[in-house]
Amino acid sequence: MIIILDYGSQYSKIIARKIRECQVYCEVHSHKISYEKIKEKNVKGIILSGGPSSVFDKNAPKCDPLILSEGRIPVLGICYGMQLIAHELGGEVVQGKKHEYGKANLYIDNNFDLYEGLWLEIAIWMSHGDQVIRMPEDFQRTGHTENCPIASFSNQKRKLYGLQFHPEVHHTPKGKEIIFNFIVKICGCKPNWTPASFLKTAISEIKKEVKNEKVLCALSGGVDSTVVSALLKKAIGKNLTCVFIDQGFMRKNEANRIRELFAGDFNINLIYVDAQERFFKKIKGITDPEEKRMKIGEEFIRVFEEKANELNADFPFLAQGTLYPDVIESAAGDVAETAHKIKTHHNVGGLPDDIKFKIIEPLNKLFKDEVRKVGLELGVPEEIVFRQPFPGPGLAIRILGEVTPERVKVLQEADYIVIDEIKKAGYYRKLWQAFAILLPIKTVGVQGDKRTYSNVCAIRAVTSEDAMTANWAHLPYELIESISSRIINEVPEINRVCYDVSSKPPSTIEWE
Ligand code: XMP
Repeated sequence: MIIILDYGSQYSKIIARKIRECQVYCEVHSHKISYEKIKEKNVKGIILSGGPSSVFDKNAPKCDPLILSEGRIPVLGICYGMQLIAHELGGEVVQGKKHEYGKANLYIDNNFDLYEGLWLEIAIWMSHGDQVIRMPEDFQRTGHTENCPIASFSNQKRKLYGLQFHPEVHHTPKGKEIIFNFIVKICGCKPNWTPASFLKTAISEIKKEVKNEKVLCALSGGVDSTVVSALLKKAIGKNLTCVFIDQGFMRKNEANRIRELFAGDFNINLIYVDAQERFFKKIKGITDPEEKRMKIGEEFIRVFEEKANELNADFPFLAQGTLYPDVIESAAGDVAETAHKIKTHHNVGGLPDDIKFKIIEPLNKLFKDEVRKVGLELGVPEEIVFRQPFPGPGLAIRILGEVTPERVKVLQEADYIVIDEIKKAGYYRKLWQAFAILLPIKTVGVQGDKRTYSNVCAIRAVTSEDAMTANWAHLPYELIESISSRIINEVPEINRVCYDVSSKPPSTIEWE
């Protein structure tokens, strides 16, 4: 595998995804990892990521010096990573007078190994302040740009490489080839990491760990927990039981569909917990979004805890659908500043430590798109595999103001129409999310010569890569029109529909 040492770059995850697209397995670790530990992992190549630091900072992040001196495992430094190699090995880095940000042309001085198969001039993406002005001894320049005389360097004998630009972003169109050359041609990795090979290893690891014991899986009906359950079913069969808590804020027919699927196609034992009444009671009269979220998250844990305590002795293992970005984010704590809290996210994952389960997280090395591929390989229906994300607190955070069973019913109907129309128009998979929001105000309308005074609903449709940022979707007017007229005609409690034209930031995707 390849290991990426994270220096806090926004792009570390993208480097990881690009490597995996080349069908080579990789992991992102803190830059503090020791060379000893790296060697234990059968690592064939090391990438030092970019990052916001400068080598001149008082506490500039470094790496175990053996990584650069031992010369057995090839190292590629990207941006800050390159500056670090230069600084540590006796080259010279200067603080840039101004930040170079944007597209540039790279003139390749030496087009073997890293640049094999490329033209001598390629488009690249730069984003740096500092830059290398003198290379360490025995290094040679391999590329330059107009503003950056040493845009890349290498010492082939010691297998050390540096790129000032970012090969991982799509503004460097030939970047994937450069990454492929590093991991396959220079490091000697075999491109054979596929969903099928992942499954084979995951199943044998689960069997080895779980043996003949029983596993409980908390199910939300989303992609991740459903794929976990399908994977566990394949590995341990009847020893798997799933728990699904119906909090009353699911989409129309969703709870039934989940029960059908698990009883039918999947043939997995499912404990269905009808907790609707409890949840409605818990948030009765609450209108503050954060209070709503906290109460729902808390109640979820209470219900699960009660169920788990009943089952604890019989089920030593608890399976969760944790994904790799969650794991990376906790590791990135070394460099990242504490982020400002925007909202309390609630997941099936946030369970208390004092439940005495051994936790298994079979997807904790995968990105979302990889989970989808594994899901398809396992035969999970496309309807679930390509499902748009749905928040843990469900429709409750899309009903502004007080949440009542009646208002949930109204929103379920409107939401159903939004998704139905979007699917019919072929937009479902192109959007990150599309949904309706029920507003806490009424407006006047006229229907069949009669005055109406009823609810307003908003429609939100966004495109996004990872939900960190999102753009409002420029849906065709005809589609917005059919959504609006169907909602107003088919949902008597709604007489007005608005379309949300705000992006994230400054707005968030969900309204609460
Ligand atoms: P925001 O509203 O913060 O949402 O822009 C970003 C993404 O996260 C989803 N979301 C949640 N997912 N539990 C979840 O599992 C939550 O509490 C939660 N809140 C928001 C949201 O749907 C969007 O995709």
